[in-house]
Amino acid sequence: MRVKTIGIAVGLCAVGALAKEKAVDMSRHAEYKSGAVMDRIMAHKFEQWEAKLASGALNSTQWPRLNYTKCVNGIAEAIHGDALQTFRCKNMDLYDFINHATLGSPLATDEGASGSSIWGWTDPKSDREFIAVGMFQGTGFAEILPKGRLLNLGFLPAPATLSKYALWKEIRGYKNYMVIGSELEEHGIQIFDMRKLLTIIPKKAPVKFSVDDVTGHFKDLPRGSTHNVVINEEFQYAVSVGARPRNDSCGAGLIFIDLKDPSKPTRLGCNAQDGYVHDAQCLKYRGPDKRYLGHDICYGYNEDSLTIYDVTNKANSSIISRTSYDGAAYTHQGWVLDRYNQEYLLLDDELDEGNAAGPAAPGYPITYIWDIRNLQNPKNTGHYKATNRGIDHNQYVIDGLSYQSSYGAGVRVYDVSSIPQDPTGAGVCEVAYFDIYPEDDKAEGGGEVGFAGSWASYGYFKSGFVAVNTMERGVYLVKVTKRERCKRVHA
Ligand SMILES: *[C@@H]1O[C@H](CO)[C@@H](O)[C@H](O)[C@H]1NC(C)=O
Ligand SMILES: *[C@@H]1O[C@H](CO)[C@@H](O)[C@H](O)[C@H]1NC(C)=O
Ligand SMILES: *[C@@H]1O[C@H](CO)[C@@H](O)[C@H](O)[C@H]1NC(C)=O
Ligand SMILES: *[C@@H]1O[C@H](CO)[C@@H](O)[C@H](O)[C@H]1NC(C)=O
Repeated sequence: MRVKTIGIAVGLCAVGALAKEKAVDMSRHAEYKSGAVMDRIMAHKFEQWEAKLASGALNSTQWPRLNYTKCVNGIAEAIHGDALQTFRCKNMDLYDFINHATLGSPLATDEGASGSSIWGWTDPKSDREFIAVGMFQGTGFAEILPKGRLLNLGFLPAPATLSKYALWKEIRGYKNYMVIGSELEEHGIQIFDMRKLLTIIPKKAPVKFSVDDVTGHFKDLPRGSTHNVVINEEFQYAVSVGARPRNDSCGAGLIFIDLKDPSKPTRLGCNAQDGYVHDAQCLKYRGPDKRYLGHDICYGYNEDSLTIYDVTNKANSSIISRTSYDGAAYTHQGWVLDRYNQEYLLLDDELDEGNAAGPAAPGYPITYIWDIRNLQNPKNTGHYKATNRGIDHNQYVIDGLSYQSSYGAGVRVYDVSSIPQDPTGAGVCEVAYFDIYPEDDKAEGGGEVGFAGSWASYGYFKSGFVAVNTMERGVYLVKVTKRERCKRVHA
């Protein structure tokens, strides 16, 4: 039995050795392949979303701009005495908040509202920092001013007729561009030049861009929709993942898009070998598996498996391995620990909590740790468990810290730097968080297992600011104040 010595504030239960890789369960695979599992998740999301819409909770104008609020004794009380403006926190302060309506996406009565993805860009000449905020009606842009206030700069509308069941945008950065995809049919992928923001005069902001104010617009998708977009900046291409229908010749798998000339994005090929890809990370391979040194590798998060592809030849890419794990319910997203030494990666599963599957059965988000030192035979060496009930969503790793958007539990920062020494995850701890969704804080375990709250964050800024986009309210700007060392957990 594992004996834990857990410090006062470091309440992370490490549950090492339980997780384990295994072959994809072919008896269940057909259900994933058909789209039935994803459809169930979407139905669940829409049910919660409809309820919120009906109750007025998606009317973001009710949430006023907030001021700097220090996290004191685990609480950031942004408006004194207002429980819905009092945020649970740890080592993270609030700097600003702007609602979605102000950023350009008002409630369109019964059509919708909802924030989603977010990404950022730093102008290399001036070090000015900008964010692009995904919303129902389009993408909002803001600058992070040096003292941590947001300046609302402009809005780029979605280039297609809005539809109630295509609420979300996914955004990733490519050089000085934002690459914007959506589940909205006929939307395509917009390529917006962030340098347009450099010359906006504050007094004239926010600017309303037109759909033609983009550098490029990629339309060569089966229905014009994509679940997500992935970027490999080094090899100068984007990937559309989850571009349905699933029976398309590309299988809603990986569709490679050349970005060498962002004004003329063109298809380079696709990979349908493992069907639907929900999310992926594509990188030049730098790691110990000498067979693939310098190759172009995609780590795919494919509903019931971690699927690793060699995509060096975009016209003839192939699968290196396809591996499932104990607790697999809906393999959602992940990130390598160190892109310059690809030995480990972190994987989040979006349905293991709701399905009470494997180590996530009690409803606490589980992050699965993978040893990828052999790309042909990845090993699930362990996992770590969140301190707050909920569902884990998008994450990325910077300098040994994983920033995870855990829906109703807000943005959570884990120190994962111990993983190469201890791949069981026993040395991982939560160093900071800001819970932007107080609505569910009183639930058992501090949160509900539901699809509400934070969707994604972006924390690559030199200034240390982290911008968090939420589904209901708007964008929070927060910052980690202190990086505590993890207390060791002894075996
Ligand atoms: C949204 O909320 C604001 C402020 O609370 C209110 O004035 C407005 O009528 C609401 N709009 C809708 C469409 O419900
Ligand atoms: C933020 O500060 C300004 C200036 O002091 C004040 O007018 C405003 O009411 C404050 N906002 C909140 C939500 O407290
Ligand atoms: C895909 O399936 C749909 C309905 O299930 C069908 O209408 C369509 O023709 C199929 N497309 C292809 C390319 O097979
Ligand atoms: C694609 O690559 C495989 C090896 O991965 C090779 O056997 C096959 O001939 C290639 N096909 C084409 C059309 O180049």
